[in-house]
Amino acid sequence: MRTLAIESSCDETAAAVIENGTTIISNVVSTSKEMHEKYGGIVPEVAARMQLDYIIPVITEALAPFYGGEKPSLLRMINDNIDTIAIAVGPGLIGSLLVGVETAKTIAMVTGKPIIPVNHVLAHMYANFVVTKQSNEIQFPAISLVVSGGHTELYLMQSPNTLTWLGGTLDDAAGECFDKTARLLGFGHGGGVSIQEAAKKFQQADALADPIRLPRPMLDHDNEFNFSFSGLKTAILREVNTCKTNNRLTEETIRYMSHEVQETITDVLVKKTLHAAQKHNAQSILLSGGVSANLRLREKFQEALTNEHISLHVPPVSLCTDNAVYIGAYAYFQGTPEHWGSIIASPNLSVEVSS
Ligand code: KG4
Ligand code: ZN
Repeated sequence: MRTLAIESSCDETAAAVIENGTTIISNVVSTSKEMHEKYGGIVPEVAARMQLDYIIPVITEALAPFYGGEKPSLLRMINDNIDTIAIAVGPGLIGSLLVGVETAKTIAMVTGKPIIPVNHVLAHMYANFVVTKQSNEIQFPAISLVVSGGHTELYLMQSPNTLTWLGGTLDDAAGECFDKTARLLGFGHGGGVSIQEAAKKFQQADALADPIRLPRPMLDHDNEFNFSFSGLKTAILREVNTCKTNNRLTEETIRYMSHEVQETITDVLVKKTLHAAQKHNAQSILLSGGVSANLRLREKFQEALTNEHISLHVPPVSLCTDNAVYIGAYAYFQGTPEHWGSIIASPNLSVEVSS
């Protein structure tokens, strides 16, 4: 079965064609990230307008592998090659979501193909299924950590289609904390990747004589599987402001801060996930979402699992950040087709599921 998957929940416009939920035929992603740089964050109105510009060219390119030379109309390409449409309906920005959702519904209406609504956050974890088909199978029960710009959620997965939400962030997401720190340190739209690169260059000599102490929130028992990163965000703001006031925000200090922030966020993510895995006798841990691209996070998980009989699954970096491949994978494993007329963009779609 071939699925055309579409994702437009934020500042990426993505389309992919997936065979039987696991084989990638195409994967096209366009981003409007740089357009938002001068505003210091994503501007929903700008993101939505860019979605309108990108959506048809991106879908057309996703269908290109079926043709050597001249391509027929988009409608013909879909009719001849695609069995079903998968569309991310939320959570996300309403303006951005509407562009993808209404386009997908129109395609379903005119072609008569079935259409499957997909929860963007739950779908992230299915990037692991795309990869593991060829390599190693996932053993259940598994603990799945979805960690992105908007979410930090833990799930118990008893099978590919049985999910229970265990907990999530009570305020900011881990990715948001990376992004905010990146902006404070002057990295523009670079987000977590810039922090990772600066932290990589950190040496002990960069540390301040008076070391900074960042809180590692929610590691207590009462908040077993919940996260909170807003206190950490505030602590970083305070430290950066102090450095600025004292004229100490040098290259060395920026490397030091990046290192400290990365160590703090990754410590919390690893400890909580490991605790969930031990409590539920998990055979596997699945990481996904943009922050799971972080190399230090991957390294720490590998170290933590050295003496545990738990296997670690992480998608390649290109499938961690937003794309439509995992939207198609989720639709294959978990999705149910609906009439196009009943599908709506849902910016606040809940991720606290139990199936
Ligand atoms: O999943 P994603 O592409 O979009 C959302 O659904 O939010 O995640 C984007 C987030 C951003 O916060 C970005 O800074 C973060 O993922 N990110 C990283 C890395 N690559 C992307 N954070 C830390 N280290 C990275 N290498
Ligand atoms: Zn995402």
